[in-house]
Amino acid sequence: MPLVSMRQLLDEAAKGGYGVGAFNVNNMEQIQAIMEAAQQTKSPVIIQASRGARQYAQDRYLYHLMLAAAELYPEIPIAMHQDHGNSFETCKSAIELGFTSVMMDGSLKADGKTPTEFEENVEVTRRVVDFAHERGVTVEGEIGVLGGIEDGHGAGGTGLEHVTDPDQAVEFAERTGVDALAIAIGTSHGAYKFSKKPDGSVLKMDILIEIHKRLPKTHLVMHGSSSVPKDLQDVVNQYGGKLKETWGVPVEEIQLGIQHGVRKINVDTDNRLAITGAIRKVLWESPEKFDPRDYNKPAREAMQKVVATRMTQFGQAGHAGDYSPLAIADIAKGYADGSLVTAPLVSAK
Ligand code: G3H
Ligand code: 13P
Ligand code: ZN
Repeated sequence: MPLVSMRQLLDEAAKGGYGVGAFNVNNMEQIQAIMEAAQQTKSPVIIQASRGARQYAQDRYLYHLMLAAAELYPEIPIAMHQDHGNSFETCKSAIELGFTSVMMDGSLKADGKTPTEFEENVEVTRRVVDFAHERGVTVEGEIGVLGGIEDGHGAGGTGLEHVTDPDQAVEFAERTGVDALAIAIGTSHGAYKFSKKPDGSVLKMDILIEIHKRLPKTHLVMHGSSSVPKDLQDVVNQYGGKLKETWGVPVEEIQLGIQHGVRKINVDTDNRLAITGAIRKVLWESPEKFDPRDYNKPAREAMQKVVATRMTQFGQAGHAGDYSPLAIADIAKGYADGSLVTAPLVSAK
């Protein structure tokens, strides 16, 4: 199966009432772990690469690894997504390389640190939408800013500093025509999201529900949605790691989100923890080992387990065979003839 439009994948998820995990990758083993989990659970899947990942792996390697995945698992719909594009140029280069979806994160300036003004975000996102849709590529935008900093990306601070304003979310969706909208509801990237199990005072599910009511056709995206389970933290610490006590986003809150329009759920940290824990365990227990396969294999298996669990919890399991992928050129026609419009488009002010 060729790489699939993320828009089609999310439209199908909306029809089926489930969410789709978007898992970050930087190397071959992570792609293999996701694909094995997808095959095991019969799940459609979104594989995403951040700017850091594209730089780390040299993005042509990543692209060809994804093509290998599509060739090896023809029964699995795979969307290849740019995570947190920081500029028009980053998104354009991803599209030209063959990504079927991009995130234009205009909530931050191109430095990936400084929050933007609303108008600036609208302008750059709309520009990416025009370029991407003409080529059948899906666009995710972001309004509001998450907490934390991952690999230099993020405004820092807590997740509560720039929570999304529902009025702005509606205006943003209408003026940009994004297919999917990331909103800030108190979460942060990375392991340190909450200092105790989050309740409504720090995880603003009510805002998400309100936004979905007002934008029923726009697929909502939850970033920073690792659950940071204690068992994964414990393995890391048991074998010499130094993680401080922390809480992530409980799976039941994500499931509530899925009932209210969340279709894409971004997970990276949980997989990082699983990989690191597995590698630490091998090196701790068998210090004589030095063949990377001795620790990469258990690491890959640990990630597969996390991904398969999330696929089941998000409800995408069992849906891989529900539909045939549309050609990207046909998706482009859908954007051109207006049949794929999500929010009533208004022209820029
Ligand atoms: O958005 C954050 C993702 O976890 C990707 O992180 O920029 O360190 O690759 P990264
Ligand atoms: P986590 O750090 O919670 O896994 O979030 C990942 C993410 O949002 C990637 O864009
Ligand atoms: Zn993110």
